[in-house]
Amino acid sequence: MDLYEYQAKDLFAAHGVPVLPGAVATTPDEAESIAAEYGVPVVVKAQVKTGGRGKAGGVKLAENPAETKTKAEAIIGLDIKGHTVHRVLVTPASDIAEEYYFSFLLDRANRTFLAMASVEGGMDIEEVAATKPEALAKIAIDPIAGVDAAKANEIVAAAKFPAEVADQVADVIVKLWETFVSEDATLVEVNPLVRDPQGKIVALDGKVTLDENAGFRHPAHAELVDKTTENPLEAAAKAKDLNYVKLDGEVGIIGNGAGLVMSTLDVVAYAGEKHGGVKPANFLDIGGGASAEVMANGLEIILSDPAVRSVFVNVFGGITACDAVANGIVKALEILGSEATKPLVVRLDGNNVVEGRRILAEANHPLVTVVDTMDNAADRAAELAAAGK
Ligand SMILES: Nc1ncnc2c1ncn2[C@@H]1O[C@H](COP(=O)(O)OP(=O)(O)OP(=O)(O)O)[C@@H](O)[C@H]1O
Ligand SMILES: [Mg+2]
Repeated sequence: MDLYEYQAKDLFAAHGVPVLPGAVATTPDEAESIAAEYGVPVVVKAQVKTGGRGKAGGVKLAENPAETKTKAEAIIGLDIKGHTVHRVLVTPASDIAEEYYFSFLLDRANRTFLAMASVEGGMDIEEVAATKPEALAKIAIDPIAGVDAAKANEIVAAAKFPAEVADQVADVIVKLWETFVSEDATLVEVNPLVRDPQGKIVALDGKVTLDENAGFRHPAHAELVDKTTENPLEAAAKAKDLNYVKLDGEVGIIGNGAGLVMSTLDVVAYAGEKHGGVKPANFLDIGGGASAEVMANGLEIILSDPAVRSVFVNVFGGITACDAVANGIVKALEILGSEATKPLVVRLDGNNVVEGRRILAEANHPLVTVVDTMDNAADRAAELAAAGK
């Protein structure tokens, strides 16, 4: 789960990382009164979960409360890379002597944690990384040893931070590592980490990604979920522990195994080209043990999506055999009763397929069509979706 800047900086503050005060506004008037309280020039910052806000006009300086209102008006509602701005952070403007870059992240490719640091921070760290890689120090972090003062000093030296801020930066790095570990983050990024004219180090921006797999250890993280921008179907699926992602097509998809579901999306999109351009409506992986209840939960979510015109159930029987899946489908339709209204195309293959198909044939449900191959089933599901449009 990605956090908003203001949430990231709240976590930083809780772990002793120096940040500026700030408050969030959802209207220009609120932004104006926050600025009035601070009584100093402020920066109005779009709160969206994407980078490059400054370049997109989402970060603006305001000298006084009236100007804060105008700037907030310009920023709220702005579309930044597909993210609509609903909130702005109003924070005192800082004088900046230098901008640095710092991050801890999970480096999956190298199976380690990584610290990245540069004295050429600011808005374009990707460009620095591409054109001047020597200016971006990358240091692997042993997850057992972690980052103590000595390791932090090593990072500071590798990135060539100026001597007068070295101790402060090292201290901030240790605290960011504490944040990274104790919050179970996979990314903690500060760009810019600034030195103000008085020589003080402050995190002016913050990006944090939390590892949701560790959510059970952090009841407080539940409050960081943004209910207003969460897709209601995805929220309902999450509440039922389903691996569901809403997409913008018309063919509902259920499959077992992420790989099979991914390729199902591809074949449906391909088949859809022949049928007026219908597309997959979602990703849903019901996993290995596809019980009737899981199947019913999955079908319920998919059928409650008004965009869905047909559903493609694509299951390859493995540990969970096809007969169990077929029974699951039959029971799910029983559970759903009159809520099930859209045609279902089922393709079963693999372990115990003959018995699975027999069960579906015997049930003879009016909404269910069994098709033997994945391509033909995708074609039929796309055709039904196009007809239902
Ligand atoms: N409180 C502040 N006072 C003065 N200048 C600021 C303040 N906050 C941000 N800035 C300036 O605005 C620039 C961009 O801000 P910030 O890093 O928060 O957004 P961004 O980098 O454009 O967005 P993102 O990090 O999402 O890519 C900073 O590099 C800094 O120069
Ligand atoms: Mg930034």
